[in-house]
Amino acid sequence: MKYKISEQCYAIGKTIIKPDKKFSFLAYLITGEANVLIDTLPDRAASMLTEEIASIIGEKPLDAIILNHSEEDHSGALPDVLQRYPETPIFCTAACKKRLTGELPKANFQVVETGEALECGEYKFTFYETPGLHWDDNMVTFWNTNNILFPNDLFGQYAAAEPPVDHDYPEDTLLDAAERYYDKVFEPASKAEKEIVLDLVNLPIQMIAPGHGLVLENKFPAIMTLYRDKIK
Ligand SMILES: [Fe+2]
Ligand SMILES: [Fe+2]
Repeated sequence: MKYKISEQCYAIGKTIIKPDKKFSFLAYLITGEANVLIDTLPDRAASMLTEEIASIIGEKPLDAIILNHSEEDHSGALPDVLQRYPETPIFCTAACKKRLTGELPKANFQVVETGEALECGEYKFTFYETPGLHWDDNMVTFWNTNNILFPNDLFGQYAAAEPPVDHDYPEDTLLDAAERYYDKVFEPASKAEKEIVLDLVNLPIQMIAPGHGLVLENKFPAIMTLYRDKIK
């Protein structure tokens, strides 16, 4: 599944919609003067992801990969992507690099820290580490150029739709899906680890594009309020 969430950004994902289970895995490809992939997909979706990337950028290079988290559902397709784009630098936390270096010894990992920015073509991205939410290696990426937050697991929901956007999704159902995801994945974190989110919600966010569930185009204020209430 491929869907344009903004003029320069595609969501590429795998959707599960069954009567008893709704979930999705989402990666993002930003195109233009520079082509930047944010996160990947599970290994079982690797060929679909690499084909979709090639269908969008053609023979152009993939200039950067931003990997917010190393868990298999976001990094499983990375070896296949690197097979096609072996030189592409991968921007991630030190903990993420440590977790993946054994499997990918030749990969060009570039370690980033909170507040560091990446300028790529006409685009600027800023990274914020979120250790403990929910692994030691998680971070989120804010695309300053378009005010879109790519938080990976954070703000994820047990929800799915095609296209993967929140327009027509009932807000109470979406909030319930976000709360169930929060309780399962983030509730075990410490208060100090969770409080990083209270800073993130002050960014000038216009859209949230998470790794699971739906892209939050107009219901993100409600989900940010949910997180604020859960954390305080
Ligand atoms: Fe995860
Ligand atoms: Fe995940």
